[in-house]
Amino acid sequence: MERLRHDGVLVVGAGLAGLSAALAAAPRKVLLLTGATLNHGCSSAWAQGGMAAALAADDAPALHAADTVAAGAGLVDPAMAQLLAEEGPAAVRALAALGAPFDRRPGGEFAQSLEAAHSRPRVARVKGDQAGGAIMQAVSVAALAAPHIQVRVGAKLRGILQDTDGRVRGVIVEIAGRLTEIVAPATVLATGGIGGLYAVTTTPAELTGEGLGLAALAGAVIGDPEFVQFHPTAIDIGRDPAPLATEALRGEGAVLVNATGERFMARYHPDAELAPRDVVARAIHAEREAGRGAFLDATEAVGGHFPEEFPGVFAACLSGGIDPRVQPIPVAPACHYHMGGIVTDAEGLTSLPGLYAAGECASTGVHGANRLASNSLLEAAVFGTRTGRAAAAQADPATAPLSARAAPGTSEAALAALRAGMSRDAGVVRDAAGLMRLLAEIERLEATLGRAPALVAARLTAACALAREESRGAHFRTDAPAARPASRTLVRLADLDGARALRFAAE
Ligand code: SIN
Repeated sequence: MERLRHDGVLVVGAGLAGLSAALAAAPRKVLLLTGATLNHGCSSAWAQGGMAAALAADDAPALHAADTVAAGAGLVDPAMAQLLAEEGPAAVRALAALGAPFDRRPGGEFAQSLEAAHSRPRVARVKGDQAGGAIMQAVSVAALAAPHIQVRVGAKLRGILQDTDGRVRGVIVEIAGRLTEIVAPATVLATGGIGGLYAVTTTPAELTGEGLGLAALAGAVIGDPEFVQFHPTAIDIGRDPAPLATEALRGEGAVLVNATGERFMARYHPDAELAPRDVVARAIHAEREAGRGAFLDATEAVGGHFPEEFPGVFAACLSGGIDPRVQPIPVAPACHYHMGGIVTDAEGLTSLPGLYAAGECASTGVHGANRLASNSLLEAAVFGTRTGRAAAAQADPATAPLSARAAPGTSEAALAALRAGMSRDAGVVRDAAGLMRLLAEIERLEATLGRAPALVAARLTAACALAREESRGAHFRTDAPAARPASRTLVRLADLDGARALRFAAE
C-alpha cells in the first residue's frame, strides 16, 4: 500500500463541520478528503430549516441553552449546550460574512422562524427552506479559495491508522480503487450520520456511519448511539432519500391531519403541531399504523405563497404530483439525524489521542436524547471551528510503529437487508424482541462480510437500544414505555463484544 505523509490536519468529510474545521485550522495546512465533490453527498447541503441562534433582542443564549436541554430529555450536557448557544450568534454572523445570504428584515436584522420546542422564533433561514445549500455554497467557495486547504475529491475512508500505542496517526483511503495510507499528526472525522442504514432517510443514502464504525473499531468511546431522530414530515412520495417538508411550515401554521381530515396532534400533546419532534414522529407513525394516514396541510398557512416562501418543498411536492398550495402533503417519519456518535470534548478531541470528530458523527453532548430543531448546522459550525483550531495545534508525535488494516465493505444485498431490518426494528418505536432479531441479522451479515463499519454502526445502535430498557426522547420502547433515572450511554465496541446486555452506569 502506498504511504503518504501530510504535515498538518487531515479532515475527512466536507459537510459544514468538516469545512468549518478546515477553515479554522489556518494557517496550518489541511488535506480535506471527500468522497463527493464539495456541496454534494453531505446532509448539511440538504438542510432546510436553518441555524438556531439567539440573535433577536428578546432572546438570549441562556434561553436557547434551556430549550436545548429541555428537548434533549435529560441527557444534554448543560455546559456544552450553554457553549453552543453562546457561540451561536457569532457563528451565524461569521457565515453571513462569508456570503451566506440569510433572510433579513427591512431593518437588516436576521429574519427568524419558529420551530418546534423553541421558546422563541430563533432559526436564521435562507429563502424559507434553502439554508443548507446556500450556507454550504458560501463555505465551499471559501474553502476552495483558502491557500492552506487542499481538497482531494473521490477519496473513500477505508480505515483509521493507529500506531502500536493506540494513537491515531492518519487514515487509509481508497482513491480510484487503490488503497493509500495518509499519515498525519491530527485527523478530524466529519463523516456525517447513519441515515443510509435505514430504508428511508432524509439524508444522502451514502452516509452509513463509516466514521462512527471505524472509530469504534479503533477503540474510541461512543456516546448514546441508540438515539436516532426521525423527522416527522418526510414527504411520502415513495422516494429514498425522501424530500423533507421543513418544520418551519408548522411554525408558519401548517397543520397535521389524517385521512378523515381530523387535526390529530392535540390528541398526542398539548403543543400539538409544535410538540417536540419525537412526539410528532410517533403520532404520525401511530396514525399511519392505524390506517388513518397523515398529511401536512399548508394550504391555509402558506397556500399561494409556496413558490417564493418554500421553493424547495414546493418543487419536491410538484415532482411527486402534489400541489401543496391546494393539497395536503402526504408525510411519514424518516431517519433524519443521529444524536449519538464518537464522544468528544469541547475541542473535538475523542478518547483516542490524535483523533478528533465534529458534526453529526460526533457526540459533544449537546443533543441528548432528542436534538432541538436547527441545532445541527449550528453545532457543525461552532464545534467544527473549535475542532479545527485544536487539531491545528497538534504536534507530530514521536513515532511508534504503525499498524494498518482496511476495514471490509458491505455488499448491496447486505446493505438492503440491514436497511430493512433497521427500519423495522430500530425505528420510531422499538421493543426487545425486534432488537434481538435485528442483532441476530447483523451477526449473520458480519459472519459473511466481517466487521464492516456500517455493520458496526448498526450494531452499536441496536445493542444500545436493547440495553436501554426505558423510553426517552427519540428512543421509544413499547415494552418499556416509562423513563428511568437519566443516564448517558458511553460504550466501547469491546463492551458489546463482552456482554450482549450492556447495562447503564446508573444501574
Ligand atoms: C427542518 O427544517 O425541519 C429540519 C431542520 C433540522 O433538522 O434541524
